[in-house]
Amino acid sequence: MGNKIRLFVNVDHVATLREARKTIEPDPLVAALLAEQAGADGITVHLREDRRHIQDHDVSRIRQNITTVLNLEMAAVEEMVHIALDTQPYQVSLVPEKRQEITTEGGLDVFSQKEQLKKVGDRIQSNGIRFSLFVDPDPRQIDAAREVGAESIEINTGSYSELREAGAVQRELEKIRDASRHAAEQGLRVFAGHGLTDENVVAIAAVPEIEELNIGHSLVSRSVYHGLKQAVRNMIQAIQAGEAQRTR
Ligand code: PXP
Repeated sequence: MGNKIRLFVNVDHVATLREARKTIEPDPLVAALLAEQAGADGITVHLREDRRHIQDHDVSRIRQNITTVLNLEMAAVEEMVHIALDTQPYQVSLVPEKRQEITTEGGLDVFSQKEQLKKVGDRIQSNGIRFSLFVDPDPRQIDAAREVGAESIEINTGSYSELREAGAVQRELEKIRDASRHAAEQGLRVFAGHGLTDENVVAIAAVPEIEELNIGHSLVSRSVYHGLKQAVRNMIQAIQAGEAQRTR
């Protein structure tokens, strides 16, 4: 039995909803504080180069106001390295980024960019920030992650989450189990995330090496189900308050 898994709540999609109207709510910082109240161990944000959801001011406000820790996901580009060194998050997780993608598609190809990733990792670590790489459950990428000096890898559970056929799910799960064992044997800490829900997370949380999970989209989408009734009740009350003020 391993130690308790740390849950990092990704609040990107709270910002997605705000950016749909370019307004001030919902505020990802408020969501981060609520997630902490509910027991989250940390907050994750992905500052994308296109700023489609999280904005620079969100990163600094969240960093300054949360009582847990911030995991900053970002591409390995100079602009983001500067922001990370300024913000001083607890951890930087490097992810691949393509402008046209809907969400992060697949893990980083660490193997073919070892030199560049090592340089970025060294700068991050020499500023006292933990350095993690988001990779597919592929031993070659995991070995490369160790070679570039990462402290941890986050195994991409995106494919596992999308598969529906039971045999295929089991095969992908086996890959994740093997990759987790392999990474731990290399001295890497093992995290996981992408596409996890409270149904498919169970088998992932059973993998003994996994220490940390990053979960966002499903939490934000389930919050709509859990919160909409109360929001509608509040709106009806407000409308009734207005009706009570009518003079004719
Ligand atoms: N881990 C990484 C590296 C990600 O890019 C994302 C999505 O931003 C997540 C975890 C969380 O995935 P989801 O929003 O599907 O829970």
